[in-house]
Amino acid sequence: MDLATGRRVRQFFRERFGGDGPPERLFFASGRVNLLGAHVDYHGGPVLPVAVDRGVFVAARVRADRRLRAVSLDFPGAHDFDLDAPPNAAAAGFAAYPLGICVTLEEGGARLRGLDLAFGGTVPPGAGMSSSAAILVATATAIAETRFVGVRCGIMDQFASALGRAGHALWLDCKDQSHDYVALPSERMSFMMLDSMTRRELAGGSFNRRVDESTGALAKIRRTAPGATCLRDVTSAQLEAARGDLTDVEWKRARHVVGEVARVQRARALLAAGELLEFGSLMGQSHQSSRHLYEVSTDRLDALHELSVDHPDCYGARLTGAGFGGCALAVVRRGCEESFQAHVVEGFARRFGLSPAVYPIGFGGALFEVADA
Ligand code: GLA
Repeated sequence: MDLATGRRVRQFFRERFGGDGPPERLFFASGRVNLLGAHVDYHGGPVLPVAVDRGVFVAARVRADRRLRAVSLDFPGAHDFDLDAPPNAAAAGFAAYPLGICVTLEEGGARLRGLDLAFGGTVPPGAGMSSSAAILVATATAIAETRFVGVRCGIMDQFASALGRAGHALWLDCKDQSHDYVALPSERMSFMMLDSMTRRELAGGSFNRRVDESTGALAKIRRTAPGATCLRDVTSAQLEAARGDLTDVEWKRARHVVGEVARVQRARALLAAGELLEFGSLMGQSHQSSRHLYEVSTDRLDALHELSVDHPDCYGARLTGAGFGGCALAVVRRGCEESFQAHVVEGFARRFGLSPAVYPIGFGGALFEVADA
Protein backbone atom coordinates (compact mmCIF):
# COMPACT_ATOMS: atom_id res chain seq x y z
CA MET A 1 0.00 0.00 0.00
CA ASP A 2 1.24 3.45 -0.91
CA LEU A 3 1.29 5.33 2.40
CA ALA A 4 2.54 8.51 0.69
CA THR A 5 -0.87 8.84 -0.94
CA GLY A 6 -2.50 8.32 2.46
CA ARG A 7 -0.41 11.19 3.84
CA ARG A 8 -1.38 13.39 0.90
CA VAL A 9 -5.06 12.66 1.54
CA ARG A 10 -4.66 13.60 5.21
CA GLN A 11 -2.87 16.80 4.26
CA PHE A 12 -5.51 17.61 1.64
CA PHE A 13 -8.25 17.07 4.24
CA ARG A 14 -6.60 19.56 6.60
CA GLU A 15 -6.14 22.14 3.85
CA ARG A 16 -9.76 21.94 2.76
CA PHE A 17 -11.55 21.41 6.05
CA GLY A 18 -9.15 22.87 8.60
CA GLY A 19 -7.46 21.19 11.51
CA ASP A 20 -9.97 22.24 14.19
CA GLY A 21 -12.20 19.83 16.00
CA PRO A 22 -11.58 16.16 16.58
CA PRO A 23 -8.81 14.63 14.45
CA GLU A 24 -9.80 13.14 11.12
CA ARG A 25 -9.44 9.39 10.70
CA LEU A 26 -7.87 7.75 7.68
CA PHE A 27 -9.16 4.54 6.08
CA PHE A 28 -8.00 2.43 3.16
CA ALA A 29 -10.00 -0.02 1.08
CA SER A 30 -8.55 -2.24 -1.64
CA GLY A 31 -9.41 -2.23 -5.30
CA ARG A 32 -9.72 -5.57 -7.04
CA VAL A 33 -8.91 -7.41 -10.22
CA ASN A 34 -11.13 -10.26 -11.26
CA LEU A 35 -9.18 -13.33 -12.39
CA LEU A 36 -12.18 -14.92 -14.03
CA GLY A 37 -15.94 -14.53 -14.30
CA ALA A 38 -16.80 -11.57 -16.55
CA HIS A 39 -20.33 -10.19 -16.14
CA VAL A 40 -21.67 -13.21 -14.29
CA ASP A 41 -22.03 -11.78 -10.79
CA TYR A 42 -25.38 -10.14 -11.51
CA HIS A 43 -26.50 -13.45 -13.03
CA GLY A 44 -25.82 -15.37 -9.81
CA GLY A 45 -22.58 -16.89 -11.12
CA PRO A 46 -19.32 -17.58 -9.29
CA VAL A 47 -16.36 -15.19 -9.64
CA LEU A 48 -12.66 -15.22 -8.65
CA PRO A 49 -11.55 -11.70 -7.70
CA VAL A 50 -8.31 -10.75 -5.92
CA ALA A 51 -8.00 -7.70 -3.66
CA VAL A 52 -4.96 -5.66 -4.69
CA ASP A 53 -2.61 -3.32 -2.85
CA ARG A 54 -3.94 -0.29 -4.66
CA GLY A 55 -7.19 1.25 -3.56
CA VAL A 56 -8.78 4.35 -2.10
CA PHE A 57 -7.92 6.34 1.02
CA VAL A 58 -10.56 8.40 2.75
CA ALA A 59 -9.94 10.87 5.55
CA ALA A 60 -13.16 11.39 7.48
CA ARG A 61 -14.48 13.49 10.35
CA VAL A 62 -17.97 13.54 11.74
CA ARG A 63 -19.74 16.93 11.89
CA ALA A 64 -22.18 18.27 14.44
CA ASP A 65 -24.74 19.21 11.76
CA ARG A 66 -26.24 17.39 8.75
CA ARG A 67 -23.89 18.61 6.02
CA LEU A 68 -21.95 16.18 3.89
CA ARG A 69 -18.84 17.75 2.37
CA ALA A 70 -16.60 15.80 0.00
CA VAL A 71 -13.45 16.56 -1.97
CA SER A 72 -11.09 14.28 -3.88
CA LEU A 73 -7.55 14.46 -5.15
CA ASP A 74 -8.74 12.61 -8.24
CA PHE A 75 -11.84 14.57 -9.21
CA PRO A 76 -12.44 18.30 -9.50
CA GLY A 77 -14.97 20.16 -7.40
CA ALA A 78 -15.97 20.48 -3.78
CA HIS A 79 -19.36 19.05 -2.88
CA ASP A 80 -21.46 20.31 -0.03
CA PHE A 81 -24.85 18.67 0.54
CA ASP A 82 -27.60 18.99 3.08
CA LEU A 83 -28.63 15.50 4.14
CA ASP A 84 -32.17 16.83 4.61
CA ALA A 85 -32.34 17.83 0.94
CA PRO A 86 -29.89 15.63 -0.99
CA PRO A 87 -29.53 16.16 -4.76
CA ASN A 88 -29.93 13.28 -7.19
CA ALA A 89 -26.92 11.19 -8.20
CA ALA A 90 -26.31 12.97 -11.50
CA ALA A 91 -25.80 16.29 -9.70
CA ALA A 92 -23.42 14.83 -7.13
CA GLY A 93 -20.40 13.93 -9.28
CA PHE A 94 -17.96 11.52 -7.63
CA ALA A 95 -19.64 12.34 -4.31
CA ALA A 96 -22.67 10.32 -5.48
CA TYR A 97 -20.96 7.30 -3.86
CA PRO A 98 -20.63 8.55 -0.27
CA LEU A 99 -23.91 10.44 -0.62
CA GLY A 100 -25.57 7.26 -1.89
CA ILE A 101 -24.45 5.39 1.21
CA CYS A 102 -25.92 8.08 3.47
CA VAL A 103 -29.20 8.31 1.54
CA THR A 104 -29.60 4.54 1.48
CA LEU A 105 -28.86 4.17 5.20
CA GLU A 106 -31.39 6.91 5.96
CA GLU A 107 -33.98 5.19 3.77
CA GLY A 108 -33.36 2.17 5.96
CA GLY A 109 -34.23 4.20 9.05
CA ALA A 110 -30.83 5.55 10.15
CA ARG A 111 -30.45 9.19 11.17
CA LEU A 112 -26.89 10.29 10.37
CA ARG A 113 -24.67 13.15 11.39
CA GLY A 114 -22.87 15.08 8.69
CA LEU A 115 -19.36 14.20 7.53
CA ASP A 116 -16.33 15.87 6.01
CA LEU A 117 -14.60 13.50 3.59
CA ALA A 118 -11.44 13.73 1.52
CA PHE A 119 -10.68 10.95 -0.94
CA GLY A 120 -7.58 10.00 -2.90
CA GLY A 121 -6.78 6.76 -4.64
CA THR A 122 -3.97 4.70 -6.06
CA VAL A 123 -6.26 2.94 -8.53
CA PRO A 124 -6.95 4.94 -11.66
CA PRO A 125 -10.67 5.93 -11.61
CA GLY A 126 -12.62 4.23 -14.39
CA ALA A 127 -9.82 1.79 -15.15
CA GLY A 128 -11.77 -1.28 -14.13
CA MET A 129 -10.12 -1.79 -10.76
CA SER A 130 -13.06 -0.84 -8.60
CA SER A 131 -12.02 2.54 -7.30
CA SER A 132 -15.65 3.29 -6.53
CA ALA A 133 -16.12 0.08 -4.59
CA ALA A 134 -13.17 0.83 -2.38
CA ILE A 135 -14.98 3.67 -0.63
CA LEU A 136 -16.12 3.60 2.99
CA VAL A 137 -18.03 0.57 4.17
CA ALA A 138 -17.86 -1.74 1.19
CA THR A 139 -21.14 -3.49 1.71
CA ALA A 140 -22.95 -0.18 2.10
CA THR A 141 -21.45 0.81 -1.24
CA ALA A 142 -23.10 -2.18 -2.83
CA ILE A 143 -26.52 -0.83 -1.89
CA ALA A 144 -25.61 2.74 -2.74
CA GLU A 145 -24.09 1.87 -6.11
CA THR A 146 -27.05 -0.06 -7.42
CA ARG A 147 -29.87 1.92 -5.86
CA PHE A 148 -28.57 5.49 -5.88
CA VAL A 149 -25.86 5.86 -8.52
CA GLY A 150 -27.83 3.75 -10.99
CA VAL A 151 -25.39 1.11 -12.26
CA ARG A 152 -27.06 -2.26 -11.95
CA CYS A 153 -23.81 -4.01 -11.14
CA GLY A 154 -23.35 -7.20 -9.17
CA ILE A 155 -21.80 -7.73 -5.76
CA MET A 156 -18.30 -8.82 -6.76
CA ASP A 157 -16.34 -5.59 -6.38
CA GLN A 158 -17.63 -4.69 -2.93
CA PHE A 159 -17.19 -8.21 -1.59
CA ALA A 160 -13.66 -8.42 -3.02
CA SER A 161 -12.77 -5.09 -1.44
CA ALA A 162 -14.23 -6.07 1.92
CA LEU A 163 -13.24 -9.75 2.09
CA GLY A 164 -10.03 -10.01 0.05
CA ARG A 165 -7.12 -11.84 1.66
CA ALA A 166 -3.46 -11.53 0.65
CA GLY A 167 -2.13 -14.43 -1.39
CA HIS A 168 -5.61 -15.72 -2.21
CA ALA A 169 -8.33 -15.34 -4.77
CA LEU A 170 -11.78 -14.93 -3.31
CA TRP A 171 -14.17 -17.62 -4.45
CA LEU A 172 -17.51 -15.88 -4.32
CA ASP A 173 -20.78 -17.54 -5.23
CA CYS A 174 -23.00 -14.63 -6.23
CA LYS A 175 -26.19 -16.67 -5.96
CA ASP A 176 -26.06 -17.57 -2.27
CA GLN A 177 -23.21 -15.18 -1.36
CA SER A 178 -21.14 -17.97 0.16
CA HIS A 179 -17.40 -17.51 -0.16
CA ASP A 180 -14.12 -19.29 0.30
CA TYR A 181 -10.45 -18.62 -0.41
CA VAL A 182 -8.23 -20.24 -3.04
CA ALA A 183 -4.52 -20.07 -2.18
CA LEU A 184 -2.53 -18.87 -5.17
CA PRO A 185 0.96 -20.13 -6.10
CA SER A 186 2.30 -16.59 -5.64
CA GLU A 187 5.95 -17.66 -5.70
CA ARG A 188 5.51 -18.61 -9.36
CA MET A 189 3.22 -15.89 -10.66
CA SER A 190 2.85 -12.13 -10.93
CA PHE A 191 -0.15 -10.05 -11.83
CA MET A 192 0.41 -7.32 -14.41
CA MET A 193 -2.09 -4.54 -15.01
CA LEU A 194 -2.28 -3.26 -18.57
CA ASP A 195 -4.05 0.05 -18.85
CA SER A 196 -5.69 0.74 -22.23
CA MET A 197 -5.62 4.46 -21.37
CA THR A 198 -9.32 4.85 -22.11
CA ARG A 199 -11.78 5.39 -19.31
CA ARG A 200 -15.25 4.01 -19.25
CA GLU A 201 -18.31 5.54 -17.73
CA LEU A 202 -20.27 2.75 -16.07
CA ALA A 203 -23.49 4.66 -15.69
CA GLY A 204 -23.19 5.62 -19.36
CA GLY A 205 -25.77 3.07 -20.40
CA SER A 206 -23.77 0.27 -22.07
CA PHE A 207 -23.47 -1.68 -18.83
CA ASN A 208 -27.17 -1.46 -18.02
CA ARG A 209 -28.03 -2.37 -21.62
CA ARG A 210 -26.08 -5.62 -21.22
CA VAL A 211 -28.06 -6.32 -18.05
CA ASP A 212 -31.33 -5.74 -19.93
CA GLU A 213 -30.34 -7.89 -22.89
CA SER A 214 -29.21 -10.82 -20.79
CA THR A 215 -32.12 -10.72 -18.35
CA GLY A 216 -34.41 -10.50 -21.40
CA ALA A 217 -32.82 -13.74 -22.57
CA LEU A 218 -33.44 -15.32 -19.16
CA ALA A 219 -37.15 -14.43 -19.26
CA LYS A 220 -37.51 -16.30 -22.56
CA ILE A 221 -35.39 -19.29 -21.51
CA ARG A 222 -37.58 -19.67 -18.41
CA ARG A 223 -40.55 -20.54 -20.61
CA THR A 224 -38.92 -23.92 -21.21
CA ALA A 225 -36.72 -24.02 -18.10
CA PRO A 226 -39.00 -22.60 -15.36
CA GLY A 227 -36.70 -23.80 -12.56
CA ALA A 228 -33.96 -21.32 -13.56
CA THR A 229 -34.05 -18.28 -11.27
CA CYS A 230 -31.00 -16.64 -12.82
CA LEU A 231 -28.79 -17.26 -15.88
CA ARG A 232 -26.31 -19.15 -13.73
CA ASP A 233 -28.90 -21.94 -13.38
CA VAL A 234 -29.26 -22.39 -17.15
CA THR A 235 -27.48 -25.38 -18.72
CA SER A 236 -26.01 -25.42 -22.23
CA ALA A 237 -28.75 -27.84 -23.30
CA GLN A 238 -31.51 -25.54 -21.99
CA LEU A 239 -29.92 -22.61 -23.77
CA GLU A 240 -29.76 -24.52 -27.06
CA ALA A 241 -33.39 -25.59 -26.66
CA ALA A 242 -34.44 -21.94 -26.30
CA ARG A 243 -32.28 -20.64 -29.11
CA GLY A 244 -35.15 -20.24 -31.58
CA ASP A 245 -36.96 -17.89 -29.14
CA LEU A 246 -33.99 -15.59 -28.62
CA THR A 247 -32.82 -12.68 -30.70
CA ASP A 248 -29.25 -12.93 -31.93
CA VAL A 249 -28.09 -10.44 -29.29
CA GLU A 250 -29.92 -12.26 -26.47
CA TRP A 251 -28.42 -15.55 -27.56
CA LYS A 252 -24.90 -14.14 -27.56
CA ARG A 253 -25.29 -12.56 -24.12
CA ALA A 254 -26.70 -15.73 -22.56
CA ARG A 255 -24.13 -17.92 -24.31
CA HIS A 256 -21.36 -15.85 -22.73
CA VAL A 257 -22.79 -16.15 -19.21
CA VAL A 258 -23.40 -19.90 -19.43
CA GLY A 259 -19.89 -20.52 -20.80
CA GLU A 260 -18.24 -18.15 -18.34
CA VAL A 261 -19.91 -19.77 -15.33
CA ALA A 262 -18.58 -23.16 -16.46
CA ARG A 263 -15.09 -21.69 -16.88
CA VAL A 264 -15.05 -20.20 -13.36
CA GLN A 265 -16.18 -23.55 -11.92
CA ARG A 266 -13.28 -25.32 -13.67
CA ALA A 267 -10.81 -22.60 -12.76
CA ARG A 268 -11.19 -23.06 -9.04
CA ALA A 269 -9.64 -26.53 -9.02
CA LEU A 270 -6.97 -25.56 -11.56
CA LEU A 271 -5.82 -22.60 -9.48
CA ALA A 272 -5.82 -24.60 -6.27
CA ALA A 273 -3.63 -27.21 -8.03
CA GLY A 274 -1.29 -24.52 -9.36
CA GLU A 275 -2.08 -25.42 -12.99
CA LEU A 276 -1.32 -21.94 -14.30
CA LEU A 277 -1.10 -22.80 -18.01
CA GLU A 278 -4.55 -24.37 -18.03
CA PHE A 279 -5.91 -21.52 -15.94
CA GLY A 280 -4.37 -19.02 -18.37
CA SER A 281 -6.07 -20.69 -21.29
CA LEU A 282 -9.44 -20.18 -19.54
CA MET A 283 -8.56 -16.49 -19.20
CA GLY A 284 -8.03 -16.39 -22.97
CA GLN A 285 -11.40 -18.03 -23.61
CA SER A 286 -13.02 -15.57 -21.22
CA HIS A 287 -11.51 -12.67 -23.14
CA GLN A 288 -12.74 -13.98 -26.50
CA SER A 289 -16.21 -14.58 -25.11
CA SER A 290 -16.32 -11.08 -23.58
CA ARG A 291 -15.22 -9.75 -26.94
CA HIS A 292 -17.42 -11.64 -29.37
CA LEU A 293 -20.46 -12.65 -27.30
CA TYR A 294 -20.90 -10.10 -24.50
CA GLU A 295 -19.27 -7.43 -26.70
CA VAL A 296 -17.64 -5.40 -23.94
CA SER A 297 -14.09 -5.29 -25.32
CA THR A 298 -12.36 -2.56 -27.33
CA ASP A 299 -9.60 -2.58 -29.99
CA ARG A 300 -7.09 -1.51 -27.38
CA LEU A 301 -8.09 -4.21 -24.90
CA ASP A 302 -7.93 -6.81 -27.69
CA ALA A 303 -4.45 -5.59 -28.61
CA LEU A 304 -3.32 -5.80 -24.97
CA HIS A 305 -4.66 -9.34 -24.78
CA GLU A 306 -2.95 -10.40 -28.01
CA LEU A 307 0.38 -8.80 -27.12
CA SER A 308 0.28 -10.46 -23.70
CA VAL A 309 -0.39 -14.00 -24.83
CA ASP A 310 2.24 -13.57 -27.52
CA HIS A 311 4.90 -13.30 -24.79
CA PRO A 312 6.45 -16.67 -23.89
CA ASP A 313 6.21 -16.08 -20.13
CA CYS A 314 2.55 -15.08 -20.04
CA TYR A 315 0.15 -17.72 -18.70
CA GLY A 316 -2.97 -15.84 -19.74
CA ALA A 317 -4.65 -12.45 -20.05
CA ARG A 318 -8.11 -10.96 -20.26
CA LEU A 319 -9.94 -7.69 -19.90
CA THR A 320 -10.93 -7.19 -16.29
CA GLY A 321 -13.75 -5.18 -14.80
CA ALA A 322 -16.71 -4.18 -16.91
CA GLY A 323 -14.75 -3.70 -20.14
CA PHE A 324 -15.60 -0.79 -22.49
CA GLY A 325 -12.05 0.49 -21.81
CA GLY A 326 -10.09 0.33 -18.58
CA CYS A 327 -7.57 -2.40 -17.86
CA ALA A 328 -6.58 -5.89 -18.90
CA LEU A 329 -4.93 -8.28 -16.47
CA ALA A 330 -2.11 -10.67 -17.34
CA VAL A 331 -0.71 -13.50 -15.23
CA VAL A 332 3.00 -13.91 -15.96
CA ARG A 333 5.84 -16.08 -14.72
CA ARG A 334 7.47 -14.48 -11.67
CA GLY A 335 10.76 -12.82 -12.57
CA CYS A 336 9.70 -12.04 -16.15
CA GLU A 337 7.81 -8.81 -15.41
CA GLU A 338 10.30 -6.47 -17.07
CA SER A 339 10.63 -8.26 -20.37
CA PHE A 340 6.85 -8.69 -20.49
CA GLN A 341 6.31 -5.01 -19.80
CA ALA A 342 8.78 -3.94 -22.54
CA HIS A 343 7.14 -6.28 -25.05
CA VAL A 344 3.60 -5.01 -24.41
CA VAL A 345 4.50 -1.31 -24.22
CA GLU A 346 6.47 -1.48 -27.44
CA GLY A 347 3.83 -3.38 -29.41
CA PHE A 348 1.01 -1.15 -28.18
CA ALA A 349 2.94 2.05 -28.91
CA ARG A 350 3.69 0.86 -32.42
CA ARG A 351 0.02 0.28 -33.08
CA PHE A 352 -1.67 3.15 -31.26
CA GLY A 353 1.08 5.76 -30.99
CA LEU A 354 0.92 6.00 -27.20
CA SER A 355 2.40 4.06 -24.28
CA PRO A 356 0.05 2.07 -22.08
CA ALA A 357 0.73 1.98 -18.34
CA VAL A 358 1.89 -1.58 -17.62
CA TYR A 359 2.83 -2.42 -14.05
CA PRO A 360 2.94 -5.29 -11.57
CA ILE A 361 0.36 -5.29 -8.81
CA GLY A 362 0.50 -6.91 -5.39
CA PHE A 363 -2.09 -8.29 -3.00
CA GLY A 364 -4.38 -6.14 -0.87
CA GLY A 365 -6.78 -6.99 1.90
CA ALA A 366 -9.93 -5.89 3.59
CA LEU A 367 -10.86 -2.34 4.52
CA PHE A 368 -8.84 -1.00 7.43
CA GLU A 369 -7.93 2.12 9.33
CA VAL A 370 -4.46 3.52 8.61
CA ALA A 371 -2.73 4.81 11.71
CA ASP A 372 0.77 5.60 10.48
CA ALA A 373 0.25 7.98 7.55
C1 GLA B 1 -18.21 -4.14 -13.00
C2 GLA B 1 -19.34 -4.38 -11.99
C3 GLA B 1 -19.25 -5.78 -11.39
C4 GLA B 1 -19.14 -6.84 -12.48
C5 GLA B 1 -18.06 -6.47 -13.49
C6 GLA B 1 -18.04 -7.40 -14.69
O1 GLA B 1 -16.99 -4.12 -12.34
O2 GLA B 1 -19.29 -3.41 -10.96
O3 GLA B 1 -20.37 -6.00 -10.55
O4 GLA B 1 -20.40 -7.03 -13.09
O5 GLA B 1 -18.22 -5.15 -13.99
O6 GLA B 1 -17.64 -8.68 -14.33
